[in-house]
Amino acid sequence: MTHKIAVYAGDGIGIEVTAEAVKVLKAVEKIADIKFDFTDFNWSSRYYKETGKIKPDDYLKVLSDFECVLLGAIGCPDLIPDRIAVTPLIEMRQTFDQYIGLRPASLMPGVKSPLADINLGDLDIYFVRENSEGEYINCGGRFKPGTDDEVAIQTNIHTRKGVERIIRYGFEMARKRNKHLTLATKSNALKFGMTFWDDVLADVQGEYSDVTVDKCYIDALCMGLVQKPKFYDVIVASNMFGDILSDLAGACSGSIGLSPSANINPEKVAPSMFEPVHGSAPDIAGKGIANPIAAIRSAAMMLDFLGYNDMFKLIENVCIESLEDRQVTTPDLGGSATTSEVGDDIVNRILNK
Ligand code: NAD
Ligand code: IPM
Ligand code: MN
Repeated sequence: MTHKIAVYAGDGIGIEVTAEAVKVLKAVEKIADIKFDFTDFNWSSRYYKETGKIKPDDYLKVLSDFECVLLGAIGCPDLIPDRIAVTPLIEMRQTFDQYIGLRPASLMPGVKSPLADINLGDLDIYFVRENSEGEYINCGGRFKPGTDDEVAIQTNIHTRKGVERIIRYGFEMARKRNKHLTLATKSNALKFGMTFWDDVLADVQGEYSDVTVDKCYIDALCMGLVQKPKFYDVIVASNMFGDILSDLAGACSGSIGLSPSANINPEKVAPSMFEPVHGSAPDIAGKGIANPIAAIRSAAMMLDFLGYNDMFKLIENVCIESLEDRQVTTPDLGGSATTSEVGDDIVNRILNK
């Protein structure tokens, strides 16, 4: 079967790591009965220089024809203010109702965590991030800008539909894993929005009595992730809490360059999007040293979403083997390999299976 995939590499290392993810998907085409019809979109700082825009006005309509979007990373802070540059990312998640943000983080074999005394299996967490509303809705304003009377308002919206569906997804995920769900909350200070999350959790948790539940304030949860990562299984979080926790967990797992993510529309009425957790990393862009494994594992999550669980597992296993060997790793993991050498190593391992 042929799958129409939009490749939106973006900027900086987004371009470098996406090339490796596509290389891996092309290797999968050789060994399995899968075909991809890739279309590249150059919406990035290059496009901005040519057109004065970061993407065409009808880009969402263009993308809606695709089954999935494979995204690299957006952001070129020297040229475009970030609040403008990252708009497509947030708009895609919201317009395509990719309300599930899946962000697994685990300590992989051969990788050194910055946490002391941590062993394999001690960090294996699945973040289920609310991806479509919460703190990220574009609602607010600046009043009397530049004056002493200036006021800034940024509104969060948490809907019962939005909160309930993400909590339920978290429970379903916990059922498939170690049957423990943690809700990231802040209901001590955010007395309307976050008490609402607590209440919705209480409303539905009775239906999942096989799953143990705890609620943890986001500040204490950051501490817990560092001090007792083994305690956590599935963590459900609001949009912004999920964003912050996934970078923290990525760092704890040894490098954010290993952290994949999926932005899922479970009903498949619009494209889902797959992208590494990390950004365009201007500090290392153009050097060919970015770790492509997060992008490759995101492509693997796309295969899983498309129904090829065997290929998902194959890529995961091959990444694990490559990391365990420690022969071809990028500098973030203490190695000296280039981005494309890591991609080639993964491809060779796939083709030799
Ligand atoms: P970042 O994730 O780009 O980088 C943070 C640090 O992690 C940097 O030191 C970087 O070198 C390192 N790093 C990230 N990915 C790596 C990889 N694959 N291999 C090795 N090291 C890696 O975050 P930032 O610096 O806060 O943001 C840079 C730009 O990216 C900004 O424009 C930001 O808005 C944007 N951004 C985009 C996305 C996205 O498109 N999904 C996500 C986060 C940030
Ligand atoms: C991420 C990124 C985005 C987010 C930014 C670039 C808007 O940090 O995907 O983690 O906050 O969701
Ligand atoms: Mn982030």
